[in-house]
Amino acid sequence: MNTPRVDLYSDTQTWPSTGMRDAIANAEVGDEQRGEDPTVNRLQEMVAELLGKEAALFLPSGTMCNQIALRVWGRPGAEVILDQTAHPIHFEGGGPAALSGLMVRPVAGERGIFTADQVASAIRPEGLRHLPQSAILSIEQTSNLGGGAVWPLEGIEAVAEVAHGRGLKVHMDGARLPNAVVASGVAARDFSAPCDSVWIDLSKGLGCPVGAVLAGPAAFIEEAFRCKHQFGGAMRQAGIIAAAGVYALEHNVERLAEDHANARALAEGLAATDGILLDLETVETNMVYFDVEDATMSAPTMCKALETEHGVRMGALDDKTIRAVTHLDVAADDITVALNAIRKLLAA
Ligand SMILES: Cc1ncc(COP(=O)(O)O)c(C=O)c1O
Repeated sequence: MNTPRVDLYSDTQTWPSTGMRDAIANAEVGDEQRGEDPTVNRLQEMVAELLGKEAALFLPSGTMCNQIALRVWGRPGAEVILDQTAHPIHFEGGGPAALSGLMVRPVAGERGIFTADQVASAIRPEGLRHLPQSAILSIEQTSNLGGGAVWPLEGIEAVAEVAHGRGLKVHMDGARLPNAVVASGVAARDFSAPCDSVWIDLSKGLGCPVGAVLAGPAAFIEEAFRCKHQFGGAMRQAGIIAAAGVYALEHNVERLAEDHANARALAEGLAATDGILLDLETVETNMVYFDVEDATMSAPTMCKALETEHGVRMGALDDKTIRAVTHLDVAADDITVALNAIRKLLAA
């Protein structure tokens, strides 16, 4: 299949820029598995500093960040509390059970965001041997299936206080934490402060081809490195890919505001289109979720026609709902192309 002209399928659909490719080509490298790759070490130091944690660890993917954090903080038979839409429940191949023997305890949040009261009720009471024990609370910033919703700082502080008070560890899946930072003006280290562990993805809004960085206390990161090795994630001259991450942190964070502006423009255009249902209040960052309210066209049919007839790619989540995600390879003009394509299809 040809590459779509306008790819709004996900913010993972970015190609490394020329500047990033130059950084990759010129990267200083060493043996990462032995802690000797200067570029990996630099990236880890940058992320530890950014997130206000003692140490950080470069990993191949965000999924591995989640799975390693759950493994280090959890134990077989214990529970991790997460929103019912959370990534580790739906899109990590059953990893919590397969790799750490963990149970998941889903909470019914509002667009991926739940309350301190909900956490208090989800935590298992102590002293009852027949119950699983609650070990970890995990929150997703921003919430992916919540439409890119930003957890407010006070919300994070409130749920973390309850969890810590009952002896749980708090983990943040920060796949899109930089989007939350740019949208809210709250610093990454402030969002991270109530959490014991936190990670950011390099291969989403930041535009790298690969990688994610997990941060936390030094002892946690030491144990995380052991798991990384066990899972086969330790690398050799990984500075080649870490250089993209260093470049992205220096060049691609502030520009996320453009992605948010493009998402807003797309949302406003869609909200004004007959046959589309969209609540503008739900568009906070780079994601736009909308419903197709057309008797003759389902969401999957629309996505197929958009791609084959107009070179515009979006993702259908079910029969009605479509997700469009902006990123650094989507320009303002592309939003006009996407809107015109949708209007043409609905008019036909
Ligand atoms: C919220 C969230 N967490 C985790 C991940 C996994 O990241 P990766 O694709 O780097 O494994 C994703 C990827 O889409 C995500 O959206």
